[in-house]
Amino acid sequence: MKKRLMILGASNANRMALLEFAGLQNTECIVLDGNPDSIAKPMFQYFHHVDITDSSKVLSLAEQYNIDGIYSMNDHALRSASVVSTKLCLRGLNPASAQAALDKGTMREVWKTAGILQPKFRIIVQQEEAIAFCQSEGFPVVIKPVDCGGGGRGVYVIKDEREVETGFQYASRFLNRNNRMIIEKFIEGTEASIEYFAYNGKSYLVAYSDKFKPPLNSRVATKICYPGLFKPSTVEKMGNACREAADALGIAEGVAHVECIVDPSEQVYLVELGARVGGGHTFHPIASHVSGISYPQLIADYFCGQDISEFTISDYRGAAYYFTHSDAAGILRRVTGLEKARSTKGVALVELWKQPGDQVSVLADSMARTGCIVALDKSRDSAANAAEKALRELQFTVDKD
Ligand SMILES: Nc1ncnc2c1ncn2[C@@H]1O[C@H](COP(=O)(O)OP(=O)(O)O)[C@@H](O)[C@H]1O
Ligand SMILES: [Mg+2]
Repeated sequence: MKKRLMILGASNANRMALLEFAGLQNTECIVLDGNPDSIAKPMFQYFHHVDITDSSKVLSLAEQYNIDGIYSMNDHALRSASVVSTKLCLRGLNPASAQAALDKGTMREVWKTAGILQPKFRIIVQQEEAIAFCQSEGFPVVIKPVDCGGGGRGVYVIKDEREVETGFQYASRFLNRNNRMIIEKFIEGTEASIEYFAYNGKSYLVAYSDKFKPPLNSRVATKICYPGLFKPSTVEKMGNACREAADALGIAEGVAHVECIVDPSEQVYLVELGARVGGGHTFHPIASHVSGISYPQLIADYFCGQDISEFTISDYRGAAYYFTHSDAAGILRRVTGLEKARSTKGVALVELWKQPGDQVSVLADSMARTGCIVALDKSRDSAANAAEKALRELQFTVDKD
């Protein structure tokens, strides 16, 4: 008997993971998405156009299909998934953990109580509180809404006192469900993202990267390389930090996408934790290629209540996830070199997210990216070289505003 997994969220960014889910032999997927024309529709026998944030609608479909497991591809549907898994006694987050994983303020407070290393922070509502924090802690600081959907939305690095008002106003524009923001010390160092999985008392770093972010007021990655270039002792510290961070949030078992910054003295500061696998092609093909296991298969088996055998990842393979962007706002006129970029050895895919005629903007958040390159190879360096080569082939012509 095939297990039945309900998947919440099926955007274009999830295409490769969805294809892998669609090909699983032991799992039948029921996919829900808010877009009636989702790419999942032709891929799966069971597709429903539904508001995935509406937990009662999701629950009623879950009961109708008598599912064995539920997995949310993104933060938007994490609450719905936790309501369903709790109600139907399936593996998943309890609602309190989902809430803490969706609110950067609650997350910081939970981690502070647990004594986890993280930037010094304050939860604020008023601009005066931001000014007071900067006066006592100095610059640079980062300001961000506690809950705005991720992707760097509303995140602003304030470098000196002249930028406090701009930063506060900028973050304010992205306030969502509530009016709280965090202001915190900016940690200098190398950022890492980790695909973390814990089961039966054991935890695994399925993939870990280092990221390059242009030093703007925003902080959006343009290059993410796997495996991250860290000493083994630092990787071990990152693994411990992930486990402590997940445990503190009530995720003793399950999955997380963890972001941290390794400072020059190799201290690991937690930035945030997403209670799901990383977005876009990180899930698949990247985490699968790097670890040598099909990550969608592992996720399907875990959430459907299967026993997971212990595994070891002895040798991480290389991957590079590069993003293109425009240096200025304007209209994209032309893109050349796409075919050459796509045929570069080691390059798995090149995507264009903006078409000629579209408005492009500076890299304020990840929505401003214009496309991506994914290279998969034996080593980090060979994958990065392939991505660099493909990047050089791509030429964007923009009529600047
Ligand atoms: N305290 C900090 N120090 C240094 N960089 C930070 C800090 N907080 C956030 N950033 C940068 O901003 C990015 C986005 O912030 P994050 O809290 O992860 O929000 P989002 O939910 O938008 O991903 C991070 O990946 C990191 O590069
Ligand atoms: Mg983040």
